[in-house]
Amino acid sequence: MKQSAAAAIVALALATACGGASAGHGHGHHRGHGDRVPHPELSAAQYAAMLDDPERDAWQMPERLVRELGISRGMTVADLGCGSGYFLPYLHAAVAPDGHVLGEDIDAELLAIAHQKIEQQGLTTVTLREGLPADPRLEAGRYDFVLLVDTYHHILDRPTFLGHVRRSLRPQTGRFVVVDFREDATRGPPRQHRIPRADVIRELGQAGMRLDRELTFLPHQFVLVFAASST
Ligand SMILES: C[S@@+](CC[C@H](N)C(=O)[O-])C[C@H]1O[C@@H](n2cnc3c(N)ncnc32)[C@H](O)[C@@H]1O
Repeated sequence: MKQSAAAAIVALALATACGGASAGHGHGHHRGHGDRVPHPELSAAQYAAMLDDPERDAWQMPERLVRELGISRGMTVADLGCGSGYFLPYLHAAVAPDGHVLGEDIDAELLAIAHQKIEQQGLTTVTLREGLPADPRLEAGRYDFVLLVDTYHHILDRPTFLGHVRRSLRPQTGRFVVVDFREDATRGPPRQHRIPRADVIRELGQAGMRLDRELTFLPHQFVLVFAASST
């Protein structure tokens, strides 16, 4: 592809950053170029360049987010929809040396890029897993934190997906964190693809989870921390 055409595609992707619906993606086959959610027009490398753009750090504040959530040494954490692994180095640094980070996604090619990052940066606590669109394939009762960053709006069968997440939380103390773009944010997917904060809280309530905490320092995204309703 000519450089100018590639640049135009990346510019379009940045304009709609993380937008698009994931309709039409069935279960049980390896995904890659052509059915990438939400950017089928991008190669995995192009999408990873967008997700891992160093300029993202200024508004995503990954270190502060991990710290203020209370993710710490020895914990077991899952990053669902981890993509090319933007958050994995920060999660590793927080839980190392004796914790564990699981990076999960439905896109095998993005996971391959995350794998390279793990090798190159020596992220010894991190393992990767390919999940299914409605089932991240998590162990029951294991996780101190399950994170879902900029991915909630891509999940179609949320009742099923959220049921799996709830079962994966460590009893009493486990927390599920949803980070996604606010309706008024100047970054993020097109407005029609954004799910309002109140709808996220309502859907989580229907899935047996209650809002426990909220962090409000990110300029474009809400950070909602949920506990199982029985705790
Ligand atoms: C906007 S990207 C965010 C990636 C990463 N969380 C980050 O913050 O850089 C959305 C990711 O969600 C993944 N995804 C979409 N639907 C998914 C599903 N049902 N289960 C797991 N991952 C999914 C996509 O493959 C993509 O990597």
